[in-house]
Amino acid sequence: MGETGQVRIFPEPEALSRAAAEIFVEEGAKSIAARGRFAVALAGGSTPRRTYELLAQEPYCQRLPWSQVHIFFGDERAVPPADPRSNYRLARETMLSRLPIPGGNVHPILAFPSAAAGAEQYEAELQAFFGYGLPRFDLVLLGMGPDGHVASLFPGSPALRETVRRVVAVTGEGVPEPRVTLTPWVINLAAVVVFLIMGREKAPVLREILQGSESAGRYPAALIRPLSQRLLWLVDQEAARLLGPEAAG
Ligand code: 6PG
Repeated sequence: MGETGQVRIFPEPEALSRAAAEIFVEEGAKSIAARGRFAVALAGGSTPRRTYELLAQEPYCQRLPWSQVHIFFGDERAVPPADPRSNYRLARETMLSRLPIPGGNVHPILAFPSAAAGAEQYEAELQAFFGYGLPRFDLVLLGMGPDGHVASLFPGSPALRETVRRVVAVTGEGVPEPRVTLTPWVINLAAVVVFLIMGREKAPVLREILQGSESAGRYPAALIRPLSQRLLWLVDQEAARLLGPEAAG
């Protein structure tokens, strides 16, 4: 696994989604065997939808004791839970409503009506779950925007420099609506971080990041360097179209 992690390129979205579901259940089984629980932070956006649908179907749904799985969110928009933009709604309709996960094991970010209050609530939620030790997720799933944003960490955001709070509210330029997001240091504490990236519009930024170019530092995705060094980029051919033959590890 190189400096920027391991890259796996898939010929089409379905293969990528299946690989992500396989990683989810594999990491879940390992975490539950080791610690009796699996704490995973889900990505929002559209890319992970198929992965979540697969997890709720055979064979994946049979491969984990879902009562020991705890579902968190990497970020949330300040919209009602029933709003089509809600990351919680995405998870609920594709996965959570179809799996025997106890209600107490699902930890939504209550970002509506106030992102600021939502950030405080989630900070408390994470402290309640992880205790006052380090918030170490077993797995964090991330997407990436064409501007290199991850979760709701956008280029130039003060949140990129946050080193104390686990969760912050973000608003302002470049942020489509007020949001709540995990901060980079929390993501980088995770045992495993997996990017799911699809679409040709992401190819230029992905190339800059994976080639480790000087200019890549301005992209939030380039800040994701888990201390565990277990970073995996699952990308489809469209997003990988500008990568050289050496890219796939
Ligand atoms: C969100 C996500 C965000 C997403 C990227 C990619 O709440 O929107 O956290 O970071 O992963 O914007 O979105 P797509 O998967 O829709 O391309």
